[in-house]
Amino acid sequence: MRVLSGIQPTGPIHWGNYFGAIRQYIALQDHEQAYYFIANLHALTTVREPDKLRAYTLEIAIDMLALGLDPNRATLFVQSDVPEVSELCWLLMTGAPMGLLERCHAYKDKKAKGLTADAGLFTYPVLQAADILAYDSDVVPVGEDQVQHIEVCRDLAGSFNHLFGNVFVMPKAQVLDHSARVPGTDGEKMSKSYNNTLPVFEDAKAQRREIMRIVTDSRPMNEAKEPAGDVLYDLYSLVASDAQREEMAALYRRGGFGYGDVKKALADAAEKFFAEPRARRAELAAKPDYVHQVLAEGAATARKKAVAVLRRAQDACGVTGW
Ligand code: TRP
Repeated sequence: MRVLSGIQPTGPIHWGNYFGAIRQYIALQDHEQAYYFIANLHALTTVREPDKLRAYTLEIAIDMLALGLDPNRATLFVQSDVPEVSELCWLLMTGAPMGLLERCHAYKDKKAKGLTADAGLFTYPVLQAADILAYDSDVVPVGEDQVQHIEVCRDLAGSFNHLFGNVFVMPKAQVLDHSARVPGTDGEKMSKSYNNTLPVFEDAKAQRREIMRIVTDSRPMNEAKEPAGDVLYDLYSLVASDAQREEMAALYRRGGFGYGDVKKALADAAEKFFAEPRARRAELAAKPDYVHQVLAEGAATARKKAVAVLRRAQDACGVTGW
């Protein structure tokens, strides 16, 4: 079974990215044939500074490797290194109903705000469908917000298959486990657009400062509190051991603690949790040639598959063999 997902290189990754998705991608490499790519062509719809796009692309590769992605078990590559995907995108575009794309959130939301959208944003889901179909992907692990895009992919694959024969494997979305809710520093969902993120790879001191700034309620020291749903407790749960977490929960239920102490415990646990990836990241950042080589090998593996699938699609619809 092939598992595939893409990550947009739009800036430093935060706890929400890691606990909400990346950690789960990495875990899948042990059980399935995993393909992960850095969606730089998609990011181009929002990142319009070439040097930034380049830096974000390489950095996210380093992040993934530092966090445990093993290039011997999973295939990691950059989207634009497989040009067959863009060609497949065109074939799918010729059968993509306007109405279907007009209903997609990213485009619809932008329009609703009165902003002008470009064709890149409008056809974004078609490129995503090509990403998925190009590798005969069976399962696509994604966050809830991407389920609509997988539905579009299935629609496009279905109508292409209906018109031209069985060309594409029908993929399924696997919605990532969101039981690990990742609140941001303001208690809302952690997201870059809310400006409430804790980056995974800033140095421990900076991380501690940001944790100390987390907004808390005005609960008095002597009052007990239900731990679940409290920002500090929920964040602590992500990085603490089971025993530490239970101890903290008991402390909340008993009362008589201050948030300052919880923040300190959170900063300590976070520092410990990310210490190893941080050290690995520093090593990898000093070896860009190695990272480039991993990405080149990943692209070669992925491309072999994409060439075959594109050829199948071309043969089926009649743009070859004339
Ligand atoms: N649109 C996805 C996101 O923003 C990234 C992405 C691009 C993707 N192509 C994909 C995800 C293919 C899964 C499969 O998160």
